[in-house]
Amino acid sequence: MASTLTTSNGNPVEDNQNSITAGQYGPILLQDFALIDKLSHFDRERIPERVVHAKGAGAHGYFEVTHDISKYTKAKFLNRVGKRTPLFTRFSTVGGEKGSADTARDPRGFAVKFYTEEGNWDMVGNNTPVFFIRDPIKFPDFIHTQKRNPQTNCGDPDAFWDFISLVPETLHQVAILFSNRGTPDGYRHMHGFSSHTLKLVNEAGESHFVKWHFKCDQGIKNFKAAEAAKLASSNPDYATADLFNAIAKGDFPSWSVHVQVMNPKDAATYRWNPFDVTKVWSQKDYPLIPVGKMVLNRNPDNYFAEVEQAAFSPSHMVPGIEASTDRMLQGRLFSYPDTHRHRLGTNYQQIPVNVAYNARIANQQRDGAMSINGNGGSAPNYEPNSFGGAKQTAVANTYSSFELNAIAARHIIQLSDEDFVQPGNLYRLMSAEEKSDLIDNMAGHLKNAKTFLQERQVGHIKRADKEWGARLEAKLKALQSKA
Ligand code: HEM
Repeated sequence: MASTLTTSNGNPVEDNQNSITAGQYGPILLQDFALIDKLSHFDRERIPERVVHAKGAGAHGYFEVTHDISKYTKAKFLNRVGKRTPLFTRFSTVGGEKGSADTARDPRGFAVKFYTEEGNWDMVGNNTPVFFIRDPIKFPDFIHTQKRNPQTNCGDPDAFWDFISLVPETLHQVAILFSNRGTPDGYRHMHGFSSHTLKLVNEAGESHFVKWHFKCDQGIKNFKAAEAAKLASSNPDYATADLFNAIAKGDFPSWSVHVQVMNPKDAATYRWNPFDVTKVWSQKDYPLIPVGKMVLNRNPDNYFAEVEQAAFSPSHMVPGIEASTDRMLQGRLFSYPDTHRHRLGTNYQQIPVNVAYNARIANQQRDGAMSINGNGGSAPNYEPNSFGGAKQTAVANTYSSFELNAIAARHIIQLSDEDFVQPGNLYRLMSAEEKSDLIDNMAGHLKNAKTFLQERQVGHIKRADKEWGARLEAKLKALQSKA
């Protein structure tokens, strides 16, 4: 049975079609609270959209441990084969606004919130194992070049290729972006990666470096550029609807979760700096070790409440999973809770989708806008205290310690020939068709940039693989002569 319509303070509304006016054709009276309550709430419906990853879709599910990795980590949610932990996942595109097309060429966000008994662990990754840049100080500049031109308010291929070609460490991720992996067929047919190196710590306090891989059980499927462009106009919510409809009909997508584990002793001598997020670790050197399965089996009831208000952060970590010294990751540890405080408010962790409901939250944080969880009641709001308030665990070594004896400075990670090896290897691994698609996709975008930018980018690509560079150069010339 339909319930009675009320105002926000619960008073019954007897007429939701006619405002209170002075006479049939007269002005509206200020006393019409039902009207003012409705309009003023409507006026405030929009919160800032995410500055990146604004368009996304989410679903609830669970993680089940299939293999024991307790020799690497003491994280309790991983301590028993068969153990299940509820989770919420949000997939997204990166550069576009909240209303942009799901099939845009872009990396895809892959964010998972595990509601564990030790608090939430957020695995905030992408569908790519690497990233464009390796220092967080570059991130706002990089993102500005992916957004609209400050004067024209249109996309700006010159800004895009100017930045990419001035910062050639981007090439590995650019190669993935312009392959068909840059236009995945929805969110169910792509892998997820932590991309960064994290740290696992076991009960004995021993650390290992780790990269997380979420292998999609549905199999990889990508669109060719023309299909993606067509869907962008005919069905801009393609991926959102695909995920929702699959779950609604009981076709639950799943991912097999693996880790690559590196002994810290290798870190200094491995060919690649393990803390450089523009690099992968070869699976020959560090094979995938199975851990568990992620299954998505429940759609959100309400998009805004659960998906829009979801707030993930790489700094939400549980004992046994820690940050590494990857400087990009270090920047992200700060940036996410900071943007959540701006986007959702200081009490964003009290929003139901964000609440660490499998742990007991007890601290001395009080007040602030939208404190809705009882605000600590009458418990002491300070620590240490003698009156039954929350106390620090005083359990030594909950988190690992590590030695730092270093010169503080703006240390440069020098670009070298080594930076072109992995993008070149990736190209050489591609099939003939994949190579042609990559070159066509890249030329189709790069042709819109100024000639000197095209030349600079082709120069970097030749450094990665001569054939790739020469073919791209030829394709650009062919497109120019047609124009
Ligand atoms: C979202 C910052 C690099 C994955 C965001 C947001 C910010 C941000 C401010 C919006 C969050 C929100 O409003 O809820 C940064 C900075 C980076 C960086 C400063 C580099 C220093 C990365 C990397 C990855 C990544 C390397 C993947 C490996 C994501 C994902 C989201 C996101 C998946 C969307 C989370 C969601 O679904 O709500 N990032 N980001 N970001 N970022 Fe990053």
